[in-house]
Amino acid sequence: MKNEINQRIIELTSILEKANYEYYVLANPSITDQEFDKYMRELEELEKEYPEFASSTSPTKRVGGEVIDKFNKIKHRIPMLSLPDVFNEEEIKEFDERIKKSGFHPEYVCELKIDGLSGSFHYEDGVLLTGATRGDGSIGEDITHNVKTIRTLPLKLKEKIDIEVRGEIYLGKEILAQLNQKRAEKNLPLFQNCRNAAAGSIRQLDSKIAAERKLDTWIYHLPNPIDYGIKTQYESLEFMQKLGFKINPANRLVKDVTGILEFIEEYQEKRPYLPYDIDGVVIKVNDLEMQEKLGFTSKHPKWAIAYKFPALEVLTKLTDIIFTVGRTGRITPNAILEPVIVMGSTIKRATLHNEDYVIEKNLKIGDIVSIRKAGDVIPEVVEAKKERRTGNEINFQMITNCPICDSILEKKKGQVDHYCMNPKCPARQIEGLIHFCERKAMNIEGLGEKIIEDFFNVGFIKNIPDIYHLDQHRKDLQELEGYGKKSIDNLLTAIEESKKNSLEKLLFGLGIEGIGDKTALLLSKKFKTIDTLIMQSENDLKAIKDIGPILAKNIHDFFENVDNLELIDNLKELGLNTKYLGPEEKYHELISGKRFVVTGTISFMGRDEIESLIENYQGSASSSVSSKTDVVIVGDKAGSKETKAKELGIEIWNEEQWQKIYNSLQEDNN
Ligand code: IVH
Repeated sequence: MKNEINQRIIELTSILEKANYEYYVLANPSITDQEFDKYMRELEELEKEYPEFASSTSPTKRVGGEVIDKFNKIKHRIPMLSLPDVFNEEEIKEFDERIKKSGFHPEYVCELKIDGLSGSFHYEDGVLLTGATRGDGSIGEDITHNVKTIRTLPLKLKEKIDIEVRGEIYLGKEILAQLNQKRAEKNLPLFQNCRNAAAGSIRQLDSKIAAERKLDTWIYHLPNPIDYGIKTQYESLEFMQKLGFKINPANRLVKDVTGILEFIEEYQEKRPYLPYDIDGVVIKVNDLEMQEKLGFTSKHPKWAIAYKFPALEVLTKLTDIIFTVGRTGRITPNAILEPVIVMGSTIKRATLHNEDYVIEKNLKIGDIVSIRKAGDVIPEVVEAKKERRTGNEINFQMITNCPICDSILEKKKGQVDHYCMNPKCPARQIEGLIHFCERKAMNIEGLGEKIIEDFFNVGFIKNIPDIYHLDQHRKDLQELEGYGKKSIDNLLTAIEESKKNSLEKLLFGLGIEGIGDKTALLLSKKFKTIDTLIMQSENDLKAIKDIGPILAKNIHDFFENVDNLELIDNLKELGLNTKYLGPEEKYHELISGKRFVVTGTISFMGRDEIESLIENYQGSASSSVSSKTDVVIVGDKAGSKETKAKELGIEIWNEEQWQKIYNSLQEDNN
């Protein structure tokens, strides 16, 4: 009986896999949707009743359901590089010339540059094992749970091989429109474009959401083709197609630059009619041996380029120019536009930077203006169509007082910007708070622009320390409309968690003029603690590579200011970390001061080895589990110690988790 059930599960799996492939990859189904649903339901029921036969790659997994609590990191064995952008024919010819100069006569593969996010997919024995984002190119995030819901990505390949492939995860235009319609009904912010929607969907902890979003893939890169005896990029595309991957039918082998230009022209015309967004054409040297000889720069391969389509321009009306106040008091004029859609995103506003910019463009309120937007580039007002003026346009007038606090604006000598100099200006304070909470700074999820503004206006948060006193307002918060107990709990936890952030996040969050996230990291790595940084003289700071005299002065001035020093003291008292927790310190913290028990067999290292490593990192190891134990590392055949750890609710690291920590410790030592 059991055998028969297993047989039926295998049979259903194979029917559904074939149907999935035909429907999603080939767009050529051979069974009806009703039949598909019927088989799927039967499989779901059998798997529920007989979980022992349910495979991790079953087609039922596509509907999602797996929820993770955080994104683990995955190190790319081969870095995931990006391509250099080129913008015109000239640059394409230069690329071709450069390759010819190296003595080659290349053919090229032209591919569409899909506007999504790149992913790496690992298979072992033909079974999908992991999916990862590109991340910083060398370390990405583990998105396996979401990747498994992408119907065009095979869970099982047509051959039982070990392979890594890379491609673009994207969301179709139609799907985006449907998604946004639903979001509009629920009053949720709309996704600006397909790429943002795809990126937002893949970064979900709950795979049900990713499954609902109907993500898709185009696979275009095989990082180690030589392992499979493949000699050209075009062959590698064919090879991946045979394995069951979805390969873009537009890919074309061309002989020379003329062929490239023809391809570009053709797809520039077809672009609006494609069901997915593309933002250019990728051109790759076809011959892999040639590729290998051409090699890489630190960031890019030398054998490929990305031609970006020119930005699209559309006309709309400039209905008003309004002024906003930034964190530093800087005043920005903003164009308010009659909403227009450019490349799938609605544009209602564009920055006009400063007074001189508006004067130079000779913009008047009421003008018809052309707007340009390219990919993720911020929309830009190109020019006013002066021939369309009616005489009713209103001249631009720079303001003299802050639009929020009315204090008189100042323009620093030699600079183009006007500033509100009032440090207590509510607009500046709100912007400062928004900056403090943003992702690259303290990353307090739940404290976005709108909420900060609300909390500021009702008086819950007037300054940074108030954020960390927000728990005192728990009752009041619950009475606010739109805040449930759960969302308040989550918010307060996020605030508490942010106290543990490494110094660079705090430093960036403090909003010292000119200090971006990169400089904040540089300073944190160099000085390790905020106290050491505070002690540096302007000259010490100037002496650092990448810190110019203006920045050095800004930093020094900031830490000279008593209000700022008081703020830092205050934050320390509230329990905020002010030390740099580089990668080493982060993992060190996981071990240091904790009591470990190692049990069972860890396949890649012996127990003694693990225990001595723990001791090296100031942890201690014992052989029996008690309520004093902090972490139990469990390998294969762990037995009673694991059971006891579970009973006592002690943290457990399995082999995989230990491997990750171990790898990170090794990396730090290298
Ligand atoms: S090839 C080393 N091919 O564009 C090979 N990339 O900067 C690197 N992209 O990060 C990628 N379509 O996200 C390649 N047909 C295509 C692509 C493509 C889109 C994206 C990818 C990459 C970026 C290039």
